[in-house]
Amino acid sequence: MSDRETWATRLGFILASVGSAVGLGNIWRFPYQTAEFGGAAFLVVYLIAVLIIGLPAILAEFVIGRRAGLSAIDAFDELRFPGWRAVGALGVLAGFWTLSYYSVVGGWVFRYIIGSVTGAYLSAPGEYFGAVSAGPEAIAFHALFMAVTIGIVAFGIRGGIERATRVMVPSIVVLLIGLAVYAFTIPGSGAGYEYFLQPDVAVIAENYQTVVPAAVGQALFSLSVGFSVMITYASYIGDDEDMFVDSGAIAVTNTFVGITAGLVVFPLLAVQGGDYGSAGAGAVFVSVPTALSEVPLGAIVGFVFFFIVAIAALSSAISLLEVVVSHLVDTYGMERKRTTLLLGSVIFLLGVPSAIDTAWLTWFDNVGVNLLVPSTVLLVVVFVGWVLADDAVTEIQQGSDGLASLGPVWLWSVRTFVFVAVLGTLALSVFELTGAPL
Ligand code: PHE
Repeated sequence: MSDRETWATRLGFILASVGSAVGLGNIWRFPYQTAEFGGAAFLVVYLIAVLIIGLPAILAEFVIGRRAGLSAIDAFDELRFPGWRAVGALGVLAGFWTLSYYSVVGGWVFRYIIGSVTGAYLSAPGEYFGAVSAGPEAIAFHALFMAVTIGIVAFGIRGGIERATRVMVPSIVVLLIGLAVYAFTIPGSGAGYEYFLQPDVAVIAENYQTVVPAAVGQALFSLSVGFSVMITYASYIGDDEDMFVDSGAIAVTNTFVGITAGLVVFPLLAVQGGDYGSAGAGAVFVSVPTALSEVPLGAIVGFVFFFIVAIAALSSAISLLEVVVSHLVDTYGMERKRTTLLLGSVIFLLGVPSAIDTAWLTWFDNVGVNLLVPSTVLLVVVFVGWVLADDAVTEIQQGSDGLASLGPVWLWSVRTFVFVAVLGTLALSVFELTGAPL
């Protein structure tokens, strides 16, 4: 491992992890999943899932990564459990799979940046989304998004991305808050808050088979857990770092961005007639332009907004590609540039169906988030909870002064409700996807 770097600063690690976590998952996927699965009821289950499943699971990946100090798959050799390499490999596969359609959505964002120059999406946002989200244009912009991702990973301008994330996260937050405040002032937006913030417990009780897996999947996806990303990133951190604090900072920022996106999207959808459930994958791409058509200089605000979303999407996409590339480079000594180009091209091809028809995009997303990711997390949990066991506690306590006593509690939570919840989620997803009655 010749060119192995470590994070220059602790903030660098946190920001890169936040850069991976904050992305289309928060701004695009979260509002549309919430709309699809019952509004506030989904939000509640999602928040619980972040807290009791996502956080312990991130910590489990951190423990593997830091203890081994190697990328996702080789980490298991280093820990002297080579039989568990498959766990890292499954996570890498999940990343490969996910990037294929993530890039299609990233392409939409690129398309909207250009659309902002002419203001094209302002006059009829719904039709505009229909025209650019599938077909030749979508394929072209998917190619462009992949090309940029490949370019960054191939040339390894990590410094650039680290610097970009420093401005990116605060900018997204500020802009989203601005849009949320604006949405608040529009007459008729009130019903959106009710939908987003007033949970109806009956909805959860009646639809738990679909709501629970969707919320758990969203929590893991948006925290970038189950993709070996956090294993790889944590392999670069030092023993003096408090991983409890880091994971908390990541989860809080990530959740804040998602909720703020919801506070933009739902009020605006309410103004448009409140047909939340049918908004689908286009929710944010239709609601935000609709709002912008009402504000002065809407196209300029739109340009800035989509530009920042593009950076957020790129900083997530590169983490997905980097994990796959770094494995091949580290383990097989393959040449970085050529490997990146080759893998990126295969991922592009895998994404073409999603760019032709959004039904494929949804299918890829479902299989990835509801099957691949929980499967990986389940194995990570078993590995950390029972194979590493007490060693995991020792590892997590390293560098933690004030919170070290949480170590055993964390292990206990991994072995009990994280395990049960992820297993249950996986079972429900399998039944859901195979159509077996439950
Ligand atoms: N968490 C990212 C998002 O919310 C997506 C992602 C998943 C990125 C897994 C990297 C790894 O957009």
